[in-house]
Amino acid sequence: MTLSRRRALQGLAAGAGTLWLPRAPVDAAAPRALRLTPRVATQPLVEGAAAPPPTEIWGYDGRAPGPEIRARQGDRLEVAVVNRLPSPTTVHWHGIRLPVEMDGVPHAPTPPILPGAGFTYAFDLLDAGTFWYHPHYDDSEQLGRGLAGALIVEETSPPAVDRDVVWVLGDWRLDRAARIDGDFDSLFDMSHAGRLGNTVTLNGRVPETHAVAANERLRLRLINAANARIFELEFTDHEPTVLALDGQPLARPTAPGRIVLAPGQRVDLLLDCPHAPGRRFDVIDHGGGPGPMRHGTAAAYRLVTLVYGAPVRPAPRREPVVLPANPLPRPDLARAVPCRIELGGGAMGRLTRGRLEGEELDMARLAKRGRVWALNGVVGSSHYHVDAPLLTLRVGETGRLTVANDTAWPHPVHLHGFPVLALDPGADDAAAGTWRDTVLLAPGELADLAFVAERPGAWMFHCHILEHQNGGMMGFVNATP
Ligand code: C2O
Ligand code: CU
Repeated sequence: MTLSRRRALQGLAAGAGTLWLPRAPVDAAAPRALRLTPRVATQPLVEGAAAPPPTEIWGYDGRAPGPEIRARQGDRLEVAVVNRLPSPTTVHWHGIRLPVEMDGVPHAPTPPILPGAGFTYAFDLLDAGTFWYHPHYDDSEQLGRGLAGALIVEETSPPAVDRDVVWVLGDWRLDRAARIDGDFDSLFDMSHAGRLGNTVTLNGRVPETHAVAANERLRLRLINAANARIFELEFTDHEPTVLALDGQPLARPTAPGRIVLAPGQRVDLLLDCPHAPGRRFDVIDHGGGPGPMRHGTAAAYRLVTLVYGAPVRPAPRREPVVLPANPLPRPDLARAVPCRIELGGGAMGRLTRGRLEGEELDMARLAKRGRVWALNGVVGSSHYHVDAPLLTLRVGETGRLTVANDTAWPHPVHLHGFPVLALDPGADDAAAGTWRDTVLLAPGELADLAFVAERPGAWMFHCHILEHQNGGMMGFVNATP
């Protein structure tokens, strides 16, 4: 939390009716040069009288989530990373269009940052929106220990709201002494729903309340940084409007009721607070899966409670908000190169065998090698693209991925480098699509994703349930000059 935001919240809590003052404008001329130091640290995840001791975590600058990086569309971002972890690492800038050297996938082509070493990531911010950063090395463990942070790219003229708030949602698996369970990539988690935790955090803390002001209009940026948990949030007696998905604005904002957020996904909400001071409203997660420890194993639990303070303005804001579209290249559907991708494997699935590094193996053998998932029968083996690419395009060409989930589990699939236009299967009208970078497929579901291969490179395609990815649900799309 920034100092100014903390002050504003204290002001609200004290009923002082403090007017929210916008941050000082970002200097658009100079590159935003930052340092980021992933390291081991301790952090109290659970607060209060009966709280367990602080947890040893891995965090950027020793915090989970890491510092909120804020820049403006058109800025150049330079981030000097110094690795103070006991393990190699990388930083992946999820959802950002950038050169493949800066994408943070080990050896594709940039090698990982060894302990004690550094690397400076530098790229232009072409799109405004809510993005995030995380490692792409031993992903399940490194994210599971806390490495993740928000990357917010502001529009050159942001919409008028009273407060711009980021919620980074995390899910931790802790033992009774609040230590992180070291059983990463267990075969059970891998072959089922992934590593679900027992402690859900909001910006690195188990939350109790979140202060809002009567008549306040929030832009609430949700980021799901959990390894595997799929959130389905209900804002009791509020009607949040979805402004953007995965950083990409909706041409027609919608109010869908519950807000679904799979790992890797982001949602920008416009949240109007129309109720009276003193009132309280729960935000409930109906996402299913075991609930956090303190809530037993109920399928639905209270994530946080909105608590109303004094009005921030005499009347609520009413003007509609539509965010300007980002300058994305339009897919050419008439000339798209098709590619069908079948997701297979996992518990209760139909996959009986898969090809791992050229070897045809049955499921029992694959499981022994710690792999249980496949794309088109090919079991992804590492972040290095040793397997044949799923698809090869020339730069500028449109690809069209028809992804079929032939498993018993949901999968949020993510393509690096290029946002995808999610279409109704078979649709030929690009205007009807929704831009995303991570698309959730229910069991049996089909997704039809069009994109322009804008930049050369080998771009990862994988499930963002990290245990599924590590278990073989990963591949590459190649773009050649
Ligand atoms: Cu958040 Cu490979 O991605
Ligand atoms: Cu998956």
